[in-house]
Amino acid sequence: MERMAIHKALGGTSAGELICLKGWVRTLRTGKDVAFFALNDGSCFASLQVVVTPQLPNYEELVKIGTGACLSVQGVLVESPAAGQRWEVQAQKVEVLGDADSDYPLQKKRHSLEFLRSIAHLRPRSNTFGAVFRLRSALSFAIHRFFHERGFLYVHTPIITANDCEGAGEMFRVTTLDSENPPRNSGNIDWSQDFFGERTGLTVSGQLQGELFATAFSDIYTFGPTFRAENSNTSRHAAEFWMIEPEMAFADLEDDCRLAEDFLRYLVTYTLQHCGEDLAFFNERVEKGLLDKLQALAKARFETMTYSEAVSRLQASGESFQFPVAWGRDLQSEHERYLTEKVVGGPVFVTDYPVGIKAFYMRLNNDERTVAAMDLLVPRVGEIIGGSQREERLPVLQRRMEESGIAPESLWWYLDTRRWGSCPHAGFGLGFERLLMYLTGMENIRDVIPFPRTPGNARF
Ligand code: 4AD
Ligand code: MG
Repeated sequence: MERMAIHKALGGTSAGELICLKGWVRTLRTGKDVAFFALNDGSCFASLQVVVTPQLPNYEELVKIGTGACLSVQGVLVESPAAGQRWEVQAQKVEVLGDADSDYPLQKKRHSLEFLRSIAHLRPRSNTFGAVFRLRSALSFAIHRFFHERGFLYVHTPIITANDCEGAGEMFRVTTLDSENPPRNSGNIDWSQDFFGERTGLTVSGQLQGELFATAFSDIYTFGPTFRAENSNTSRHAAEFWMIEPEMAFADLEDDCRLAEDFLRYLVTYTLQHCGEDLAFFNERVEKGLLDKLQALAKARFETMTYSEAVSRLQASGESFQFPVAWGRDLQSEHERYLTEKVVGGPVFVTDYPVGIKAFYMRLNNDERTVAAMDLLVPRVGEIIGGSQREERLPVLQRRMEESGIAPESLWWYLDTRRWGSCPHAGFGLGFERLLMYLTGMENIRDVIPFPRTPGNARF
């Protein structure tokens, strides 16, 4: 008999029919001449109650199984007399596919997220992580759907690369050289003898390659893993995270902000429409008021303020920050959170940052002091998007590279886009995990990643 997902069975359309379910026992309860198994297969938040009676030939075996055991159940879906659930299954045949030892670590009580992180194989079977990873999957689909509907080309930018897009020098190295005894050339490691003939690493961003494709396909996006070796053990940084990077030809900073806003609203609306059961859980157990926040966000128009305005507002706030606020200094996360949580009370674009604190590719404004950059800040999480209009004027771009200490030879292939049919263009990067934190209320980035990679942590 073909297996039916519990999600589908709970829809009730098969009431009265004999169906087959497979899944893992979340909880079990035995009474006099009856046993109840809450069966969950991950297809939805809810479990389905399976009622087992001594009529079954293996009843004695069944009442001894452990929590977490894997079962195959054939039975009839009927309306449940019990409170709190609409349907249950009256079992006619139950097969134990895999029993569970009595030391099964997931108990009925609430476990800490740290503890669950330490049991990688059972973590996704918990309520919280079931909800998180269903949402992560649904949202991945919604992201592709958004861009597909708008005619954006999906491009796979490389994971191994010789360029460090952000110029920050925090790449993981990729090499096949003997670490004990690498070839040397007058004392320095001779990377020309390495696999790719030069020094390479894991990508920090697909943007530069994305720009190349935007000058051929107009509107493109990337969606893939990104790596940063910053040793910042914070709750918002991962060494491996996923980023969505759209790039639009014939677009300026204003267009860029509009796309980001439409994109976020679309994703929030999608989540509200398709992930209701999981969101209800987050709303109740993780972040009170989450649903109201998301409903408001689906309709909101995001505010915009320039960096200079932001600095004035912070200086006028009378707040004592750990890091000083001064024009020309980067905003720290405490400043970002103050702006979005206290000054605006919602998402805010901060635009036109000082040229000295942003990457070389951002378009220089007419004032020559600022660049056409934007960051989108949201409450609790802080920066969720970073983007800009790109510098399309070759001489200005060359000057900016020189000022930033980037050798033009290393990026000749990028500079060529400005030589043969350059065009105004703009794009941004949305951190997928930061988005998930915002949509679920989860406070640690590790808890929205199936197998998180952070300093000192890559075991499974
Ligand atoms: O602001 P960032 O560094 O921008 C870029 O990488 C540009 N190349 C994007 C572009 O214009 N195409 O990173 C973009 C976003 C951040 O706003 C943040 O949400 C996320 O990526 N991010 C991280 N997420 C998790 N862990 C980290 N270590 C992250 N670093 C950045
Ligand atoms: Mg940034």
